[in-house]
Amino acid sequence: MHFSTTTILSTIILASSAFAGPLDSRDSDDSSNPDLNIFPTTADAYENYAICKNKITKDRFPSLAAPSDEGGCVRYYPGIDMTGVVTMIDLFFKDGISNACDCAAACLDRPLTCTNWVFKHTFAGAAIDSNKRSCTLYSSPNIPTDVTLMYHLNGSVGTGVIGMNPQQGGDAPLTFLDVNNTMVDKFGVSGFMSRDTNGLQYC
Ligand SMILES: *[C@@H]1O[C@H](CO)[C@@H](O)[C@H](O)[C@H]1NC(C)=O
Ligand SMILES: *[C@@H]1O[C@H](CO)[C@@H](O)[C@H](O)[C@H]1NC(C)=O
Repeated sequence: MHFSTTTILSTIILASSAFAGPLDSRDSDDSSNPDLNIFPTTADAYENYAICKNKITKDRFPSLAAPSDEGGCVRYYPGIDMTGVVTMIDLFFKDGISNACDCAAACLDRPLTCTNWVFKHTFAGAAIDSNKRSCTLYSSPNIPTDVTLMYHLNGSVGTGVIGMNPQQGGDAPLTFLDVNNTMVDKFGVSGFMSRDTNGLQYC
């Protein structure tokens, strides 16, 4: 059976008017509903899971959305690189990146261009990376396997070195200790950052 778009639309509209009675109200702020209020009730869970406490603080980032002045980031992925390909800023030990918290902070410092960061070995060579893990900042996360993006660069703004990266999706790669990706690096870590329209920063 073939439905035209118009037929389907009118069927949906009819069905929704039939079910929408005067008693229906939209869920708004029902904290007692466990299907809505799925979040931990205290700051404890955040405190236990957060990295970079006392380094990424509200003192340093006044709009940081963290439950206490101690701060910290909970949106992180140890041992995998969940970053994407769109725009890329490389920062190294010589640029002041000594640890993953410096990397997350570098992303929070750039709310107009950065939403995700990775601290891992990139094997850029001792002259560049001092043989240490480095920090790369991106504006998009890894895309999944069945998605491949092709960018229309003429209409794009701020894309930087987008052309250097493959745009094909895949499972998020692990981080490694060696250039041939044979030894997993459990201390490689990536993370997500976002800023909302109120200016609050989440990490
Ligand atoms: C992009 O811009 C260049 C230079 O203006 C033009 O030659 C090219 O045809 C454009 N490509 C597309 C896909 O619009
Ligand atoms: C990495 O793999 C390449 C290509 O197989 C090989 O030539 C090279 O020796 C390997 N490097 C190390 C450090 O194992």
